[in-house]
Amino acid sequence: MESTSPEITPARPLRITIADAAKHLGETVEIAGWLYNLRKSGKICFPLLRDGTGVMQCVAVKSALPEETFEALKGLTQESSLIITGKIRAEQRAQGGFEMDVEGAEIVQRVPESDPYPISPKDHGTDFLMDHRHLWIRSRRQHAILRVRHEVIKAVRDYFDSHGFTLVDTPIFTPAACEGTTTLFPVKYFDDEIVYLTQSGQLYNEANAMAFGKVYCFGPTFRAEKSKTRRHLTEFWMVEPEMAYATLEDVKRVAEELIVFIVGRVLENRRTELAVLERDVSKLESIKAPFHRMSYDDAVKKLTAKGSEIQWGGDFGGTDETILTEDLDRPVLVDRYPSQVKAFYFEPDPDRPEVALGVDVLAPEGYGEIIGGGQRIYNLDLLLKRIDEHGLPREAFNWYLDLRKYGGVPHGGFGMGIERCVSWMCGLEHIRETIAFPRMLYRTRP
Ligand code: 4AD
Ligand code: MG
Repeated sequence: MESTSPEITPARPLRITIADAAKHLGETVEIAGWLYNLRKSGKICFPLLRDGTGVMQCVAVKSALPEETFEALKGLTQESSLIITGKIRAEQRAQGGFEMDVEGAEIVQRVPESDPYPISPKDHGTDFLMDHRHLWIRSRRQHAILRVRHEVIKAVRDYFDSHGFTLVDTPIFTPAACEGTTTLFPVKYFDDEIVYLTQSGQLYNEANAMAFGKVYCFGPTFRAEKSKTRRHLTEFWMVEPEMAYATLEDVKRVAEELIVFIVGRVLENRRTELAVLERDVSKLESIKAPFHRMSYDDAVKKLTAKGSEIQWGGDFGGTDETILTEDLDRPVLVDRYPSQVKAFYFEPDPDRPEVALGVDVLAPEGYGEIIGGGQRIYNLDLLLKRIDEHGLPREAFNWYLDLRKYGGVPHGGFGMGIERCVSWMCGLEHIRETIAFPRMLYRTRP
């Protein structure tokens, strides 16, 4: 029989990512990415290559390369895409600890000089950057923030998955309000039916908790708040745990544990990103249990003493939250708000029915509320009364009332806004940078 001889093609070097460079010291490999920056001086040039996992300084020497390769690299424009082949060398002075000695390069797409990459290293205004958000996320700082966001989300999931919670996701199209009717986005459904984008998965989460014991949902939520503050998005991601047979104290304990866990993970895995952001990590290192605890009454006293106009019975504004937390080294759990400022579902304190068994967790350094939650009403008659008092349509809540007819139990949970948490972890001025494509009062593009 005729034997088939294997085809001989020159082996292409192994494709690696910049994050993996340490494993390939001394090897010739290729890295596919984009030109982040370029320095040149006569017979040598230094393309900075980014590939999404890191930035690698490459060293291209004229005498070591074919003429056209060196000229192509030397004249390359910012954010052109290219694949560089070269040898990885340890270099203490380089960011990341390595450099690549260029042996070859393939330009995939060259950005033309006539229409250069719009975000140059010079300063741009926020509006300009937000209009170019689809490109801005390539920048080092934005990239670092979004990687911290990923870490926070992973930590959240790992925490709940390893503490007996089942993930049961809740719907986005909902027939009724959860957090009050004033901040709903209506959507035209079929046959002129109007539904709303969810404000919170909580009500469905309560049904899920009665079926599974401990559950969480995690998804986008929507608020038609016309607030133009550094803390508000109209679309944000919220993680919400809910537990059957749980009290306000259980809710507080889980909230505290979750935050300590998230901070631990961010410190463990995202030091490089925190350094890019020039985050003072000592502030995060001091986040340990137990957190501060304070009643709403005491919070009002503290605010009044610091010159706030707040009266007992009012809700805290952003400025109040900042005043309450600017001098703290760790979060504070504020509980027992007046029922009148809280949603319809809060269980009243049996000793003081005018206050609700609810808690807000306020982050330190002035970041303010990152978690809101508490214990839910489980008595049918009281719940009906509250639904009526809040002017909510009973028909829409029939299924929710069933949870109090068929095995009602004390239960509770909370919601944590991912972007508020990321903003605090990264030490940011404004929440808009914590999500790839923010939706705000005056921004729905790109
Ligand atoms: O305090 P909120 O409104 O609570 C609820 O929605 C409850 N149903 C949650 C529950 O008990 N399952 O919102 C919870 C958190 C806030 O603490 C904040 O972190 C975040 O959601 N949040 C926002 N984040 C960004 N932009 C907004 N407009 C936000 N509104 C709330
Ligand atoms: Mg709240």
